[in-house]
Amino acid sequence: MRGFSFLLMLLDGKKLSAKILDSVKRKVVAKKLKIGLAVILVGEHPASVSYVRQKRRAAEKVGFTFREVNLPSSVSEQKLIATIDELNLDPEIQGFIVQLPLPQKINTQKILEKISPAKDVDGFHPLNLGRGFLKLPTLLPATPAGILHLLDEYKITLKGQNVVVVGHSNIVGKPLAMLLLNRDATVSVCHVFTKNLAEFTQNADIVISATGVPHLIRAEMLKKNCVVVDAGCAQLGDKLVGDVDFENVEKIARAITPVPGGVGPMTVATLIENTLRAAENF
Ligand code: GUN
Repeated sequence: MRGFSFLLMLLDGKKLSAKILDSVKRKVVAKKLKIGLAVILVGEHPASVSYVRQKRRAAEKVGFTFREVNLPSSVSEQKLIATIDELNLDPEIQGFIVQLPLPQKINTQKILEKISPAKDVDGFHPLNLGRGFLKLPTLLPATPAGILHLLDEYKITLKGQNVVVVGHSNIVGKPLAMLLLNRDATVSVCHVFTKNLAEFTQNADIVISATGVPHLIRAEMLKKNCVVVDAGCAQLGDKLVGDVDFENVEKIARAITPVPGGVGPMTVATLIENTLRAAENF
């Protein structure tokens, strides 16, 4: 028995991402744009291979050309930087990303800073992140921007709401906290060293989790009628799972994202949107 099931909103990232891709495609066709997106993939990390496949599919769907640059996991920093330099200068490429994670021996931050900010469609360059902090026009990281787009689509208010972000990574948690703060939410960022996670989540109107720890967010840790966004991704047996114990949390939440079909497709669609913006010099 589910007390408030009739009120539950499923935040459908698959549906919204299809709408975004359709809108980008219409602009590409109407303006006869020639846009190239490239991805540098180092090694053969299975999740990364799958993400790159999804990015290719979306890029081709909207009429971009897609270039995948494969480098072995033994690649030197120098060779990786030379590849980035080439893409920075390539007139056929308007945006590109380096798929993460990189092998441990490579200094990720050093690599990300070599990407031209104008082509940095992942929004990971310090200049673009800094502009984001200041609410200046920029290319925003795809997962955080995609999450906000999804919440806006379902008219979920951020202003004045208690939002708990779980996870403090450079690619999701930290930039997400910044975007939420820029929208006047009251933001708490919890992470692996937080003493008592439930103490924070129990008081949250919105919980957004991006840790990759299956079943970290359970129903008893949440307030009734809260909004739950699951940006986690982990392999559990042969299943792709998020951070949220969906089966139980859906019984008490007002709105929730499914995994798959929630945040994942929003990340891909936002990357495509960023590439169009980069091509048009946003
Ligand atoms: N690995 C996991 N998510 C991402 C992302 O959004 N961009 C890149 N480049 N790598 C990732």
